[in-house]
Amino acid sequence: MLSLKNKVAIVTGAGSVGAGWGNGKATATLLARQGAKVFAIDKNEAAARETVEIITGEGGTAVAHVCDVTSSEQVKAAVQACVDAFGGLDILVNNVGGSVPGGVVDMPEEVWDAQIASNLNSVYLLCKHALPHLRQRPGSAIVNTASVAALRIMQGRTHSAYSASKYGVIALSRSIAIENAKLGVRCNTVIPGLMLTPVVEHRLVAQLGAENAADLIAARDKQVPMGKAGDAWDIAHAVLFLVSDEARHITATELLVDGGYAAAAP
Ligand SMILES: NC(=O)c1ccc[n+]([C@@H]2O[C@H](COP(=O)([O-])OP(=O)(O)OC[C@H]3O[C@@H](n4cnc5c(N)ncnc54)[C@H](O)[C@@H]3O)[C@@H](O)[C@H]2O)c1
Repeated sequence: MLSLKNKVAIVTGAGSVGAGWGNGKATATLLARQGAKVFAIDKNEAAARETVEIITGEGGTAVAHVCDVTSSEQVKAAVQACVDAFGGLDILVNNVGGSVPGGVVDMPEEVWDAQIASNLNSVYLLCKHALPHLRQRPGSAIVNTASVAALRIMQGRTHSAYSASKYGVIALSRSIAIENAKLGVRCNTVIPGLMLTPVVEHRLVAQLGAENAADLIAARDKQVPMGKAGDAWDIAHAVLFLVSDEARHITATELLVDGGYAAAAP
């Protein structure tokens, strides 16, 4: 079940912004545990290396590659470096992304542009350069990462660019799925809800004006019908299923990993 033996996988944002497990780091590690050779992309070299050391320390195969996924040139070179290193490409996981709060009146145009670049343009660029290789491999698959912020807008604290870009990821994934349905490449989206990853302590405490990480974690847990935020492994397992051969008839769809958050009334 869920074997990725002989498959090659690119994971973007395969590092983590702090100690612990980010979604990309857990996904890269889990795909390697299932047998994939992992090409771990991150703009932070130390973060990518740490993930690769974990994978190789467990006996898996991985290569770290520094790349800013908002740069077409760097993305093109990264995909080629993966194919050169491992002989092809079967799996692409677009995980890079992040939120900046703000409505459209107050948000500076450069913040809007940067949000669209890292959350949406990066997915376009990776898919653009990876698809010609993915089409050459039977059973290949893409998983893109959206956010529940695309589906539910918090009253009193909007994330206009983040919500727009993540909804864009869902539509782009469906478009890519249909365009490639007869070409042998599946494409789906994972939609994380409130997840407890290093981002909470390293960025969200300051960004959301919380007293401390413990208070913010408790406040986030309270909003989840299952009583607790998920973690990076919940995302990794969803990605693993969607890229596996067991999901061979699943394309152009979304998998919510949110403990019931999106379905609940306030
Ligand atoms: N953590 C959550 O609660 C949550 C909720 C919903 C959606 N998500 C989504 O999950 C994904 C990953 O979240 P996370 O919290 O694990 O991320 P993270 O902030 O820990 O980021 C993972 C890695 O991405 C790298 N990165 C950032 N920008 C990059 C760029 N331009 N090029 C290359 N690498 C870059 C960082 O260096 C970092 O190592 C994001 O798309 C995020 O929007 C997270």
